[in-house]
Amino acid sequence: HNRLFSGVQPTGDLHLGNYLGAIRRFAPMQDQFDCIFCVVDMHAITVWQDPKALRQKTREVAAAYIATGVDPKRSIIFNQSQVMQHAELAWVFNCVARIGWMNRMTQFKDKAGKNRENASLGLYAYPSLMAADILLYRGTHVPVGDDQKQHLELTRDIAGKFNNDFKNEIIEEGFEDGDFFPITEPLISGPAMRIMSLRDGSKKMSKSDPSEMSCIALMDDADKIAQKFRKAKTDPEPLPSELEGLEGRPEARNLVEIYAALSNQSSEDVLKEFGGQGFGAFKPALADLAVAHLSPISSEISRMLADPDEIDSILRDGAERAGEIAEETMKHVRQIVGFLS
Ligand code: TYM
Repeated sequence: HNRLFSGVQPTGDLHLGNYLGAIRRFAPMQDQFDCIFCVVDMHAITVWQDPKALRQKTREVAAAYIATGVDPKRSIIFNQSQVMQHAELAWVFNCVARIGWMNRMTQFKDKAGKNRENASLGLYAYPSLMAADILLYRGTHVPVGDDQKQHLELTRDIAGKFNNDFKNEIIEEGFEDGDFFPITEPLISGPAMRIMSLRDGSKKMSKSDPSEMSCIALMDDADKIAQKFRKAKTDPEPLPSELEGLEGRPEARNLVEIYAALSNQSSEDVLKEFGGQGFGAFKPALADLAVAHLSPISSEISRMLADPDEIDSILRDGAERAGEIAEETMKHVRQIVGFLS
């Protein structure tokens, strides 16, 4: 049985990286999998969030799922904090995962920065909550961008250690092969799994980047999008006609990949069309393509945000349906680990 789970944090502004690396891939998955799409508000508070903004951003992410074609009836859309079993399973996983595993997480190191002593304990335990998100639904497939790869490897390690530590109890609980949690498959392939900053081709595009110009927000208007691409860092050479010509040119490669992803072509095809041309010609073409692609989505999100009650009711309905699956899993987990019920 295949079940797909993915989540997005309601922090900062949704950007082109979130869209190409994750969100736009969600709707098509509905044809192949039972899908659950979560707004991970509990992950968001691992770094400080203004409470009013958090509520608004939670609705915005839910609206983005729907605006890109996720059907809230066919799939489940909900926010994490409304299904308390996420916190419960995360605690069990905190006791399965090893400190040494957490110490290897590069995202913690990046986010905590130099002053690690002052990072929240939640930020450190973040990957354990993420494993709980997925495994609470015994999710088998998880579409994410490249930056989440390490967290998904940890999710597999936690599932494996749990299955192994509690092998006898799991079999007693009726899971004869001893595998209670599946070993989740990450879905990270295709172009644009790692969109880079428009200011620095060695840094990923990120919600927390202090430079607003580094990042195309999903809600940016046409002028802003054109301006950001116009000012994007590039080199003085024209575009090459072959892929090898992008070696050592990370900014050029990034723009070509964005163009390819938005137009559903390969980077090779894009270079066949634009090879030999300078960025003076390529950037406006890219901006036009991005605007044509994103503006129907951002208007739909704005339209939905005008009726927050409607979004809240979709999320409540999703939480109810998610909660039933989650409770089913937790009944087994409580029994397996030896909690009285
Ligand atoms: P978050 O909110 O940082 O990002 C949401 C999704 O966008 C992808 N992404 C990118 N893809 C390509 N290029 C980029 N520059 C880029 N930046 C972000 C991310 O890979 C992600 O797929 N930990 C997760 C949220 C989460 C989750 C989960 C995901 C919590 N629980 C369970 C899957 C399953 C995160 O911080 O994503």
